[in-house]
Amino acid sequence: MDTEALKAIASYREAFPHITPLITDWSAHEDQGGDSFHAVKETAGILAATDSTIPLRYKHADATDPKVLAWIDEVVWCSTPARISGVRKVGPGPSLLLLGPTGTGKTFQGYGALRRLSVLGVNASPAASPIADIYAKMRPRPGVDSESVFESYAHAPLLFVDDLGAAKESPWVEEVTTRLVNYRYDRGMATIFTSNVPPKQLGEKIGERVASRLTELCRVVVLKGEDRRLQGRAA
Ligand SMILES: Nc1ncnc2c1ncn2[C@@H]1O[C@H](COP(=O)(O)OP(=O)(O)OP(=O)(O)O)[C@@H](O)[C@H]1O
Ligand SMILES: [Mg+2]
Repeated sequence: MDTEALKAIASYREAFPHITPLITDWSAHEDQGGDSFHAVKETAGILAATDSTIPLRYKHADATDPKVLAWIDEVVWCSTPARISGVRKVGPGPSLLLLGPTGTGKTFQGYGALRRLSVLGVNASPAASPIADIYAKMRPRPGVDSESVFESYAHAPLLFVDDLGAAKESPWVEEVTTRLVNYRYDRGMATIFTSNVPPKQLGEKIGERVASRLTELCRVVVLKGEDRRLQGRAA
């Protein structure tokens, strides 16, 4: 077996002693019909790919909110084992909408959910970005294929779209958001959205059609409390 990959898996898992990964015993996995050689390689790849999508500030984030944990369970439930390795792959299922005022931990829970899924060993090939950066990367200009940028996010098996409604609205911004949400909605593709727009103003801010789809697509979690950034400064 690939000892480097095994070492990498062990080091990623060390930070999560409270989680039991889906495959803990590679020889038992083999006995159950999974190919452990491929499973080890794939699992190490999942952990590295997720880690590379997480910005420095959230490298140690963990999902702790009970409703976020319940959503993670649903994602695991909706995943299916790959034919050769037996490693589970994310499939169509519910999405997650994290709402709440500034600094209540929405981005932290979102990246924490990505990390948990990777440590569990679910192949999600995540893409993650603040929505404003997606708009910026897509903005039509010479040398930029806006459609490929759109697809790199829209097609991701698991997508984390941070800060919905934070960018300045324009018909173009609204069209991109609608297309992205529609793409995921039509296919039931698992997506994590965050927004600090109050729930009642969401339709007004991001468009009624988008808000309506999000409500149907997502488990909604509202985080409450003080701005954690200000608490940190006070300490
Ligand atoms: N459960 C937690 N444990 C430890 N630190 C946390 C936790 N939740 C959030 N933080 C920290 O608090 C700060 C604010 O969290 P975060 O960036 O997730 O807030 P937010 O709700 O996304 O804010 P905004 O609406 O401004 O984007 C960050 O530095 C983050 O690392
Ligand atoms: Mg945030």
